[in-house]
Amino acid sequence: MALSTDEIMRLSLDLVGWDEVPADSQIYVPGEGIESALVGIDLESPEVQLAEREGYDLALAHHPVGERARLDFSNVLSRQVEFMTAHGVPTGEAEAAVSELRERVELGAHSANYRHDPSVAELLDQPYMNVHLAPDEIGRRRFVEVAEGMDAGSSVGEFVTALEEIPELAAARTDVEVRVGSEDNDLGEVAVHHAAGTNGGADVARAYFENGVDTVLYIHVGAGDARELSEEYEKKNLVVTGHIASDVIGLNTLIDALEDRGVECTPISGCSIGRS
Ligand SMILES: [Fe+2]
Ligand SMILES: [Fe+2]
Repeated sequence: MALSTDEIMRLSLDLVGWDEVPADSQIYVPGEGIESALVGIDLESPEVQLAEREGYDLALAHHPVGERARLDFSNVLSRQVEFMTAHGVPTGEAEAAVSELRERVELGAHSANYRHDPSVAELLDQPYMNVHLAPDEIGRRRFVEVAEGMDAGSSVGEFVTALEEIPELAAARTDVEVRVGSEDNDLGEVAVHHAAGTNGGADVARAYFENGVDTVLYIHVGAGDARELSEEYEKKNLVVTGHIASDVIGLNTLIDALEDRGVECTPISGCSIGRS
């Protein structure tokens, strides 16, 4: 069964039970009758050319590369506020914690060449799309399951061990790392902060810590943010699961669903991690 790019976008949403295409996901060049796809976390202009040269019906990326998915990317940051308030952070405090990030993302998008990669795909008439938030939501739910399965009184180290049992994290060459706090600390209340565009940096972690959360999970964090938090907190923890290892959790689910529907997928750019 061959699918269209619209049907593939819809499939990515169905996997998490969503109706609307998130602001960070887009079809750049539509296609029909898709039976083969090059699937990767980062597929940009060189990989679009590769897809065209090798005769793939679709180049399917995770990270957004241009157009609306880049220009309106900051819209998905509203999930940062949702996740914080769900853990008891007051709305005003949550908004303030994400305001610098939002500004950075908005100004970055405004200055970016949002036409670059899509225009190459258009020139080659190579079907090209990205799906970002929905696969990340699959990963987020996976992490929440692990967090909810921890016994009361667990340590941070026990949480790290449980996370490392997720096949993609087990297969990846990156480890789950404790960037703030220590493996010996009590795990306490865990906030899984992923599938919100990007990580929340020091400000969002601090908002959690100041409102009763003991351990925050990001998939990645900058060195400056980790240092800042480490100087402020000893008994609070920031666990990072690894960017590519974590992104691939949702993409593997999507690849399986595509293959079930007769789209033969070739995983590259991280997407082969955890696939046997
Ligand atoms: Fe992701
Ligand atoms: Fe990512």
